[in-house]
Amino acid sequence: MKGGSSCGLRVRQLSVLIFAVVSATIIIWRCDKSALLISFLPPQSRVLQLPPGSQNLAHYGGADSSTSVIEGLDFKPVSEGRNNSNEKLDMIAPKSSVNEGPLVRRESNISLTTDEGKQACNFAKGKWVTDDSWPLYSGFGCKQWLSGMWACRLTQRIDFVYEKLRWLPKDCAMESFTRSKFLTRMQNKTLAFVGDSLGRQQFQSLMCMITGGEERPDVVDVGRDYGLVKARGAVRPDGWAYLFPSTNTTVLYYWSASLCDLEPLDAANPATDYAMHLDRPPAFLSRFLHKFDALVLNTGHHWNRGKLRANRWVIHVGGVPNTNRKIAEIAGAKNFTIYSIVNWVNSQLPKHPGLKAFYRSISPRHFFNGDWDTGGTCDNTTPLSGGKEVLEDESSDPLAAGAVKGTRVKLLDVTALSQLRDEGHISRYSIKAAPGMQDCLHWCLPGVPDAWNEILFAQL
Ligand SMILES: *[C@@H]1O[C@H](CO)[C@@H](O)[C@H](O)[C@H]1NC(C)=O
Ligand SMILES: *[C@@H]1O[C@H](CO)[C@@H](O)[C@H](O)[C@H]1NC(C)=O
Ligand SMILES: *[C@@H]1O[C@H](CO)[C@@H](O)[C@H](O)[C@H]1NC(C)=O
Ligand SMILES: *[C@@H]1O[C@H](CO)[C@@H](O)[C@H](O)[C@H]1NC(C)=O
Ligand SMILES: *[C@@H]1O[C@H](CO)[C@@H](O)[C@H](O)[C@H]1NC(C)=O
Repeated sequence: MKGGSSCGLRVRQLSVLIFAVVSATIIIWRCDKSALLISFLPPQSRVLQLPPGSQNLAHYGGADSSTSVIEGLDFKPVSEGRNNSNEKLDMIAPKSSVNEGPLVRRESNISLTTDEGKQACNFAKGKWVTDDSWPLYSGFGCKQWLSGMWACRLTQRIDFVYEKLRWLPKDCAMESFTRSKFLTRMQNKTLAFVGDSLGRQQFQSLMCMITGGEERPDVVDVGRDYGLVKARGAVRPDGWAYLFPSTNTTVLYYWSASLCDLEPLDAANPATDYAMHLDRPPAFLSRFLHKFDALVLNTGHHWNRGKLRANRWVIHVGGVPNTNRKIAEIAGAKNFTIYSIVNWVNSQLPKHPGLKAFYRSISPRHFFNGDWDTGGTCDNTTPLSGGKEVLEDESSDPLAAGAVKGTRVKLLDVTALSQLRDEGHISRYSIKAAPGMQDCLHWCLPGVPDAWNEILFAQL
């Protein structure tokens, strides 16, 4: 993986050069931009200008390319010792509809209000308030689970007002998160996060919330039960799983940046390309879904051409290389995949009636005065200078909202509320970024993802 990434670097430099020479028009710039950002920060800094309901979101997830530089998460799909030759038939999402009309069909009979007794309330609408009882854990602590790169208390940062902000939904009383309530409710249960590095942040945040950031020698690493062990030569495993023995509660995270299945085209060749089966769930998910009582999916920031190229991911649909023009475009591929995975999970719910499935909307980026590669910054330290309230009923992530519509998969809508929190990113305090580059994608912890988890908790 290391070798791959230094090679990627050369390719990147070369592409930047070629690009500089060749690209002539703004249009080309806009279309091809992502192709060049093989492993840097996300390209589009348009997050804050999003008119709600616009299509921008369909592609502003430009890149979680940041992960490779900033957190080294750019690892290849590791075979999980999976053996899903049989399962696979079962997990092909909507087979049919690739070339006809809607990419994905869904059963139209499912009521939109199914299972909604408990949350007639839109948790995404509300405002940020100061709460002295927050944060729920110290950024100096939680060393057992919190990555140093996201613990802003361990950096040079000196402003921490943002840690005291708590999300208050407008039209509903949201139950406060407490460790004991969480564990009691999740007795004998498993909560799984599956997604990219922002999903990993939410996972770490939750582990810290459950433990209050305190050392917990009693918590058992059960990664092995889920095949989450470090592969030879890998920087880290593909995920982590921890059991709280007192209540028999498991919380786990699995890294799937694209939320689709990746399969080496030639398993014997270390430099193989990978079929990226947009219409198949990650093998991990189909293998372990039956063990989960709650599931939180997310994707978005890895959908750019450079990322696909660098990872040698080749888009497949229906088991063969894609020929559909709409899907050949990154925005189309991403849209198709999100609809596919949500539809697949929805199709599994009858088999797992106890499962609460969530799709988490996109986490916004905040590059001001430039982009990730042109000196873009998120230096503001005054919280909520752009407003503190979300009043819209509609999600600011229409793609995610559209995908869950008509399904029993719930939207964990964090986009608009997080959009108000430009001061909450790692910013200049990123440990791994190159000098002058800021991480305006990932969040300081404790921080914004804690609020996502409180909203999640209220719906469990
Ligand atoms: C996968 O399963 C098939 C048949 O079920 C078996 O022949 C094959 O050896 C298995 N492969 C691995 C890697 O376990
Ligand atoms: C995403 O896919 C759905 C389902 O095929 C389709 O209805 C919708 O128009 C697509 N949205 C975009 C932005 O392509
Ligand atoms: C959907 O509802 C219609 C009538 O409302 C019924 O005829 C049809 O069988 C239902 N389909 C499914 C999949 O339940
Ligand atoms: C723990 O919970 C699982 C279900 O998640 C159950 O199968 C198992 O029996 C429980 N174990 C104990 C010791 O309670
Ligand atoms: C958890 O599992 C144990 C063992 O199977 C059982 O005795 C206990 O009642 C379960 N608790 C809940 C809340 O399901």
